[in-house]
Formats: sequence, structure tokens, C-alpha cells
Amino acid sequence: MRKSIIAGNWKMYKTINEAIDLANGLKREFFKLDFASVDVVLCPVFTALSEVAEVLNETDIGLGAQDVYWQDEGAFTGEISPVMLKDSGCQYVIIGHSERRQFFGETNETVNKKIKASLKHGLTPIICVGENLQERESNNTFKVIQDHIKGSLQDISADDLLKTVIAYEPVWAIGTGKTATPDQTQEVHKYIRDLLRKMYNQETADSIRIQYGGSVKPENIIELISKSDVDGALVGGASLKVESFSAIVIQASEVKK
Ligand code: PGA
Repeated sequence: MRKSIIAGNWKMYKTINEAIDLANGLKREFFKLDFASVDVVLCPVFTALSEVAEVLNETDIGLGAQDVYWQDEGAFTGEISPVMLKDSGCQYVIIGHSERRQFFGETNETVNKKIKASLKHGLTPIICVGENLQERESNNTFKVIQDHIKGSLQDISADDLLKTVIAYEPVWAIGTGKTATPDQTQEVHKYIRDLLRKMYNQETADSIRIQYGGSVKPENIIELISKSDVDGALVGGASLKVESFSAIVIQASEVKK
């Protein structure tokens, strides 16, 4: 059985004090949460990581960054290394988010380097893949997904793959209020799992967790996560408020599959 994982991607929102407030609010809400049935991860901006780590200290709530560079250190102005993320208290890192692919030149090749560097330092990569609207409308969804998966996972062993999480995020559903239907989501998640079965083996494909991301809200989490191949959610907008994110996490923790 795969344990669900819900991650909040705070994107470029929240000053340090606002991030501390949000983390404290969530910590209170999750005081009684059954962490045996769900993993929870918060992904603030880089500048708030250490402070949020302090708030989350001695809780079961995980901490993640939103990006990483692949070198340990060096003359790479503006970049942050996996060593530095560990140093700030992170256990997770989002890699290859569509906004990074779209606005900052992220490619499957850079995603692959970032995954390897993160694994080397014991960070759990949350690897994002997903098609845009034009690709979906021209029936290229599976082709794009295959490209993202094969390119991003080049030379990653089955053992290492099991230390990652995959996030299927259709670009047309991100921040648009348009959620993929549970059936559309299940269809792509199953495609990803079948592809991983071919690339690796049955056991690996059965064990890896695949999250859905794109306008996840308290109102749609149950029907999404009830699908057999949907193992959690990567939440953007609705992760910025205590009420909405805690409602998503608590409902997810109660879904028995
Ligand atoms: P959204 O963002 O929930 O605001 O659509 C999801 C994401 O980009 O990870």
C-alpha cells in the first residue's frame, strides 16, 4: 500500500513572518493528524526555509524547497545547492515544476541533474511532469509525459527512483481553477505507472507515489485521491491558507484505499 503525500507549494508568496504564521497555524491544525496515513510537506521560498524548519522542529511535517542547483558549491551566482537545502532543514525538493520549465529554461536534462544531485545528498525529489493545453488538445499528452519521464529519469536506478515522488501536473490546470477530472487524472497516473513498469519493474512501479497537482481544493481532494493510482497532491493556491490546506490534508488522511 502506498502512503499518500500532500505537499504545499507556496511558490513566490509569503515573507518570513507570514511563512512562520502559516506554518504555526498548520502545526496547530495537524496536532492530532494521523501521520501514519499521510505525509505532509511544506515548500516555502528559500528565504523562509530555516525559520519554517524551526517551527516544524519535532513535528512530523516535512520541509521542502522549490528548486535546487546540481553542484555542491561554486561560482554559480543566485543558485542554491542540495547541501545548503539540507543545511536549512529540508528533506524534500520540488524539481522541474512547469513554471520553471516555462519561465526559467528548465529542461529534462537539468531536471535529471538536479534529481541526481538531490538524491546524492539524501533529499527526496518531487519530480514534476505534465502537458500544456495545446499538447493536450493535439492529443500529445502521453507523448509529452513519456518525454518528461524518460528524460528526467535517465540513468536513475530503481532503488533511487523509490526515493522520489512523481507529481503529474497538467499545466492547463495549474492556477486556472480548472482541475483535471478524476478520470483524466487516473488515466495519466496509470499511464505513468505502466511506463515505469516497462522502464523498471513491477515492484518499483507499484511502490512509487504519484501525486496530482493543478487546482486541488478541499472540494475536490477526495474524489481525486480516491482514484487507485493517485497517491496525493501537490497544492499551490490552496496551500497558502491554514483552512484550505488543512482541510485538504485532513480529508486525504481519512481516505482508505
Ligand atoms: P495550483 O498550483 O494548486 O495553484 O493550481 C499547483 C502547482 O503549481 O503545484
